[in-house]
Amino acid sequence: MKNIYITTAIPYVNGVPHIGHAMDYCLADTAARYYKMLGDEVRFQAGTDEHGNKIFLKAKESGESTQEYVDKNAAKFREFIHKLGVEYTDFVRTTDADHERRCQEIWKKLEPHIYKAEYEGWYCTGCERFVTEKECEENHGICPDHQKPYEKLSEENYYFRISDFKEQVREAIETNRFLILPEFRKKEVLKLLADSPDVSISRPTSQLTWGVPVPGDDSQVMYVWIDALSNYITILGYPEKDISEWWPATAQFVGKDILRFHAIIWPAMLLGLGLPLPERVVSHGMVLADGQKMSKSIGNVVDPIEVLERHGLDAFRYFFLRHIDTFADSDFTWEKFENAYNNELANDLGNLVQRLATLAQKNEIKLGEVPELKLPEAYCDLMNKFEFSRAFDFAWEKVQELNSKIDEEKPWSLAKNNETEKLQSCMTSLILGLLSVNKMISPFLPGTSEKIATIFKDPIVPPEEPLFPKNK
Ligand code: MSP
Repeated sequence: MKNIYITTAIPYVNGVPHIGHAMDYCLADTAARYYKMLGDEVRFQAGTDEHGNKIFLKAKESGESTQEYVDKNAAKFREFIHKLGVEYTDFVRTTDADHERRCQEIWKKLEPHIYKAEYEGWYCTGCERFVTEKECEENHGICPDHQKPYEKLSEENYYFRISDFKEQVREAIETNRFLILPEFRKKEVLKLLADSPDVSISRPTSQLTWGVPVPGDDSQVMYVWIDALSNYITILGYPEKDISEWWPATAQFVGKDILRFHAIIWPAMLLGLGLPLPERVVSHGMVLADGQKMSKSIGNVVDPIEVLERHGLDAFRYFFLRHIDTFADSDFTWEKFENAYNNELANDLGNLVQRLATLAQKNEIKLGEVPELKLPEAYCDLMNKFEFSRAFDFAWEKVQELNSKIDEEKPWSLAKNNETEKLQSCMTSLILGLLSVNKMISPFLPGTSEKIATIFKDPIVPPEEPLFPKNK
């Protein structure tokens, strides 16, 4: 039995959850349930990222106080995580007093690697923010929102000296001591690391007030990343608690858009603190809507609650864990979702369960003592490599094989011909096959898996309602 620590990226609370946010949770929860099935002890963090200008400005727009605004949206994310059936053990909010205090302690420990320097850039006084050189060029030097020319402005920032740790991080990545998954992202990360400048980690309070104050300097607050990344250890009680029981994390789930922060700044911070690097960062692809990035301006943002309500939780988990590739960008469309539900959940699995249970009941098939069902090696290999969508494919092939096997072996004919012994052995083998598949799918579809396990306990009784009713 091992101690396993699983983490998820903490979403910004400047909006409500969309289907893209579900990925971290579905994948991390599958990993957690898989480890628990193997008998490991799992700790599982989730949380919300609540500081920064964007959130501050959104709150202002809403007319609520910033705290009220973040409280409201953090609650929506938390509710969403519950609705996804996620078995997290710890929830961290970056506005929690404990987190803020611990974050300041972390800053103090990193001080040998922090320095103050002047930052110069293009600034819009209307937006109260710096824009990148590229943004300034694209807008021809004029802010489109305020119709005012950008000004060259400089301000003091604290910087974190990434260069102090580049070599160690590179070595850890190259030797897989700090594993980047999928493997094909490793090269990208190493390139980014080589080119990575020191990072700005604070803003003057004249520009940003909604953040954790920099210890010992009233004129500055922490800029989001130091504060946000620290969450993975502040929730374990760092620095006042010894976290070695849970740290290093077994797997940290993040989207590919934020991999660079987790593969460069985060390991550098950990080295600065004298803590071990996580075992792996698992970076998933993006969920697209109709082939495009979801965005409010295009109007193609898919509401996860609507998807959840269409056919229930396991249909949601099924689609996002099997048809959204674990590592590549994949598309959500309602058509694909409906097809997966009707053809695969209702027809492949739902019918298989219904047919087998009906036949078993009718012919009074008894399973007796069920032997321990071993997970197939090929499945475990894929799960251990965090290739979840492929592991799920593997399990589904077995569902389809069982359907073909019933058609070939025709247990109803055996019953008709009174071949009782043959019937018993054919049915037992089919049902044990299904129970073995059921074990494989349990981290993905926990609710369905529980229902199937209950149906196939002696005496076997088919469900009154199909597992996946059509035309709901
Ligand atoms: N607050 C930061 C993370 C800090 S972690 C120390 C952040 N927040 S976010 O709200 O923008 O994203 C939260 C998570 O959702 C990230 O893992 C991100 O990659 C993921 N996704 C956001 N949109 C997504 C899709 N369209 N598809 C898949 N995942 C996406 O980044």
